[in-house]
Amino acid sequence: MQTHVFQTAQQIAKAAATLIAAQLLRKPDSVLGLATGSTPIPTYQALIAMHQSGMLDFSRATSFNLDEYVGISPDHVCSYHRYMQDNLFSHINMSPDRIHIPDGNAADVAASAKAYDAAILSAGGIDLQLLGIGHNGHIGFNEPGHEFVYGCHQVQLSETTIKANQRFFDSAQDVPRFAVSLGIGSIMQSRQVLLLATGEDKAEAVRMALEGDVSPQWQASILRTHPDVIFLLDKGAASRLTHW
Ligand code: F6R
Repeated sequence: MQTHVFQTAQQIAKAAATLIAAQLLRKPDSVLGLATGSTPIPTYQALIAMHQSGMLDFSRATSFNLDEYVGISPDHVCSYHRYMQDNLFSHINMSPDRIHIPDGNAADVAASAKAYDAAILSAGGIDLQLLGIGHNGHIGFNEPGHEFVYGCHQVQLSETTIKANQRFFDSAQDVPRFAVSLGIGSIMQSRQVLLLATGEDKAEAVRMALEGDVSPQWQASILRTHPDVIFLLDKGAASRLTHW
């Protein structure tokens, strides 16, 4: 496991985009695991700039997003389908048939989640999984609990997550209560994991992930058992670590 601490979120974005670009240059048909939320936006902007400068080609890459809300349509302004279009896909040359995002509107969510895991396996598994981290230590929408759930599944969002994500919606009432999320098993099976965290409000989650017990109460702590994981942090997110 490696931890790098940077001065600014912009530096993290450049470092993350450089690692993703290196992955694509080494293996143009890489399978990327992608995240949403505020944290990866500067990284996506850096990737878009690399693509627009002619340096980075996504045409052979495949992507699987971590999660989607249940019960909002893909074109809803707050859906993760829409987020990915707006923040990345509409600016790069990834082939639409290689883009995968969990279906939050499936009639049978369990069957659709199972098919999502199967699609990842048949694509050869995720080469590089990009992650953010929730204030409660969630990765994907794997919320604190008594177990690590292996496969893609429907989750009930915690009050902390609903509160944190209400900034994207008109009010807390409008935040969906459920989501479909990749499980911890698929995240852990990724060949490399890149976790980004910025801001002092993430410091406790980062501390528990890196220095607490490995426990489903802080889901990100499982990453410490992954053979190839890199944490890219800014000073705020690293501020409660005793060593790095
Ligand atoms: C997003 C996701 C979440 C976020 C986390 C942090 O696809 O799965 O785990 O990474 O909630 O969100 P931000 O970056 O908005 O603080």
